[in-house]
Amino acid sequence: MIELHCRPPHEPSTHIGIGSGVMRTLASETKGRRVFALVDSIVAARHPEILAAHWTVTCVQAGESLKTLAQAETVLRAMARASIDRNGLLLAIGGGTVGDLGGLCAALWLRGIECWQVPTTMMAMVDSAVGGKTAVNLPEGKNLVGAVHPPARVFVDPSLLDELPEPEYRSGLAEAVKVAIGIDAPLFEILEQDGENVRARDPATLERTIHRALAAKATIVASDLREDGPRRLLNLGHTLGHALEAVSGYREPHGLCVARGLHFALDVAESLHAMTASDLDRCRRLLSQHGYLRTPLPPTSEILGFMRRDKKVEAGVVHFVVPTGIGSSCVRGLSPDQLGAVLDRR
Ligand SMILES: NC(=O)c1ccc[n+]([C@@H]2O[C@H](COP(=O)([O-])OP(=O)(O)OC[C@H]3O[C@@H](n4cnc5c(N)ncnc54)[C@H](O)[C@@H]3O)[C@@H](O)[C@H]2O)c1
Repeated sequence: MIELHCRPPHEPSTHIGIGSGVMRTLASETKGRRVFALVDSIVAARHPEILAAHWTVTCVQAGESLKTLAQAETVLRAMARASIDRNGLLLAIGGGTVGDLGGLCAALWLRGIECWQVPTTMMAMVDSAVGGKTAVNLPEGKNLVGAVHPPARVFVDPSLLDELPEPEYRSGLAEAVKVAIGIDAPLFEILEQDGENVRARDPATLERTIHRALAAKATIVASDLREDGPRRLLNLGHTLGHALEAVSGYREPHGLCVARGLHFALDVAESLHAMTASDLDRCRRLLSQHGYLRTPLPPTSEILGFMRRDKKVEAGVVHFVVPTGIGSSCVRGLSPDQLGAVLDRR
């Protein structure tokens, strides 16, 4: 098993274990604790063996519609009926939607109890399970109600990905490609040189990919838990990505929108002369090698409407993450008009 730690100063730290079979240790690791397990119903049906007899288990149907205040209330009331006390533990077993809802309920219950994340999708394994961002959506926008509540432990078992549908796998892989382009050159090399094994979900390649992506995220989060500085780099591809998700009514998977946003971020880098032609070419080739194409975009005015309302816009300036080389990026303040001009040139 590979072990990582995420230790933001003056904040609780997260222990991360990555390896095939780590799921099977959950029952013994939670022995003697009062456990409330929020579990993706698909995962519960396929892997009933991981659910320990001493847990209170609530199964939920994953998806964006799970991330509502009404669902949070349902879970919190189930925690009340299960008499979860301050020493209790919330286990969130599922993809990013189960993890986001579970993490928020752990943050709210009795003003905060311990949370362990057990990611079961590629998205959750390479990204959402680590970092402590939790949230539900409002009709007015995504992730508007949330808390920062880092999990004490994260159990990453890549063997769970065997039966993950291909679109969900590709959505999560896009977040790894984001880290490769913007933060971690060794991950770029794995995805570039071992692309076939990545797409075939070869267990050893998956483990290396998830390890590099999470190590990069843990380092950044440890230096900036509340996203005042370097953590913004993790938003590479997300300015356009979030706008495309909104335009699609949140029906388009998050990661696929981010992947389209990565193409756009490279276009912005090109327009600012922030990257060499050969690095630009390598990044664009990596995206298309993994099937992330430069698909046609909705009208610029519609995209800009959503970009202007994004949480990352301050005083009319978009904090835009610009790739600057293989595994490197920076944040630049750009106006919506500057971004609109690049969109119009596509
Ligand atoms: N908190 C963060 O830092 C953060 C970061 C990135 C994304 N997110 C959030 O994550 C969410 C998306 O997460 P997601 O892509 O995991 O979606 P998801 O939780 O909806 O899961 C996708 C689908 O995969 C199924 N599934 C889960 N595990 C499976 C398995 N092992 N085998 C087969 N099917 C399985 C689910 O039932 C669901 O149908 C979004 O709401 C996004 O905002 C949060």
